[in-house]
Amino acid sequence: MSDRYGDFVQSSIGKKVAKNLGLPLPVELERFESGQRLVRGSVLIGRAKGDDQSLSSAAANILSQLQAEVFANADDSVKSALDDAGISAKPVADDDTKFKVLLFDASNVKNTEDLKQVYEFFHKVARRVQVSGRVIVLGRPPEAFDDIEAALSQRALEGFVRSVGKEFKRGITAQLIYVAKGAEQNIDSTLRFFTSARSAYVSGQVVRVGAGSHLEVDWTQPLKGKTMLVTGASRGIGESIAKVLAREGAHVIGLDVENQKGDLKTVMDELKGTALFVDITSNDAGEKIAEAAKAAGGLDAIIHNAGITRDKTLANMDEQKWDLVININLASIAKINRYLLDNNVLNKDARIVCVSSISGIAGNMGQTNYATSKAGVIGLVNATAKQLESKDNGMTINAVAPGFIETSMTEAIPFAIREAGRRMNSLSQGGLPIDVAETIAWLASPASGGLNGNIVRVCGQSLLGA
Ligand SMILES: NC(=O)c1ccc[n+]([C@@H]2O[C@H](COP(=O)([O-])OP(=O)(O)OC[C@H]3O[C@@H](n4cnc5c(N)ncnc54)[C@H](O)[C@@H]3O)[C@@H](O)[C@H]2O)c1
Repeated sequence: MSDRYGDFVQSSIGKKVAKNLGLPLPVELERFESGQRLVRGSVLIGRAKGDDQSLSSAAANILSQLQAEVFANADDSVKSALDDAGISAKPVADDDTKFKVLLFDASNVKNTEDLKQVYEFFHKVARRVQVSGRVIVLGRPPEAFDDIEAALSQRALEGFVRSVGKEFKRGITAQLIYVAKGAEQNIDSTLRFFTSARSAYVSGQVVRVGAGSHLEVDWTQPLKGKTMLVTGASRGIGESIAKVLAREGAHVIGLDVENQKGDLKTVMDELKGTALFVDITSNDAGEKIAEAAKAAGGLDAIIHNAGITRDKTLANMDEQKWDLVININLASIAKINRYLLDNNVLNKDARIVCVSSISGIAGNMGQTNYATSKAGVIGLVNATAKQLESKDNGMTINAVAPGFIETSMTEAIPFAIREAGRRMNSLSQGGLPIDVAETIAWLASPASGGLNGNIVRVCGQSLLGA
């Protein structure tokens, strides 16, 4: 769908008009293309003083694999971690050199005084971040501390990161990654995602990386040899998910309803995937998926993307609209998961990724049915994550919660509401289906074993439910 305002402000006259009127100034976001370097610019890394160097060391090892150009402040203790990783960091000069990534290890922040180091690191370079730059803070999950000072200081980082996401503009995103002690090696896939253009429309997020099987992957094709099923794959976000998973090496089984036959076949032919025609609300949906999985030699991931809206205010909503949305968006997912887990259809270390929505987090006018279903998806992910954790078979479940994504679903929204939805976020624009797809590919990766029970918003840090 075209974003005429977004195109207009890219022109010099458009930029002037928007600036003078105080209107939003969205920049064209950088997006990942195959073969591209993950970090396209230099990285400034820093670390809060303290004994624990384990997170800095893990980050330094990844930066060394990415062959990133790394800078560090002259007096920063991060240097020893960089030395160990074989990185000779460049000193930060007092000029206007700009950075693509600002990465700060705040794991040693244990009290309010320590928080000052976060201010000092970022304040000096707040104007020196490139367009589509990345701000990343690493910390420890506050709930892991008995000490109140330590817990509050780590929790405080959330407010910092979310505010940076709102302030920096120009396509710059900010995230906080809480890493459990001992799970440092599991940050690999997460750091690669957040430092790159793959996370273009993800901002202001807090992600928890925990223990979980750490699987080595070939980073050029991390999903190679994996079979992954995507529901609602014939168009929109589902089509994009199928394409990105295939690009990363997966064999994709695309599922959709019979009347999407033509579109689904076209997409699957292009990807050399398998088309599967099933209504996910049918009683035998689980069996049909299991048969297709068996024929493909097992299933390594299922992406529950299919979903619908039937908007009406509650007073005007008939029973059918309520039932249809709850059945497709929520009940079918719970039923299919139960079948797949009870019948051991999923391979060891399988990934389940659900598609929720920010409506499920914030609620939305005219969407009681939809918001109920999407909030239920979050409940399903939380409860299933706990179950999977106790099973010890490497499986994980996570969800994405998209905001305003340019698809036929959002094209149906009346103009004024659509324009408001598109601009009411820190990036002042709608996201693209590929932004959701890239996020799902990260969560579905065999290398993401440390991610379980996360709900990651793909919403440009929407004001809704923020
Ligand atoms: N577009 C957005 O802005 C947005 C925002 C938040 C969440 N989402 C969610 O993202 C997902 C994809 O949305 P989209 O915009 O691509 O929608 P879409 O309408 O373009 O695609 C949905 C797909 O699901 C399929 N589907 C519907 N009912 C089905 C059923 N019973 N069985 C099998 N397949 C079925 C449809 O045929 C279609 O191919 C949905 O879950 C939606 O709720 C979208």
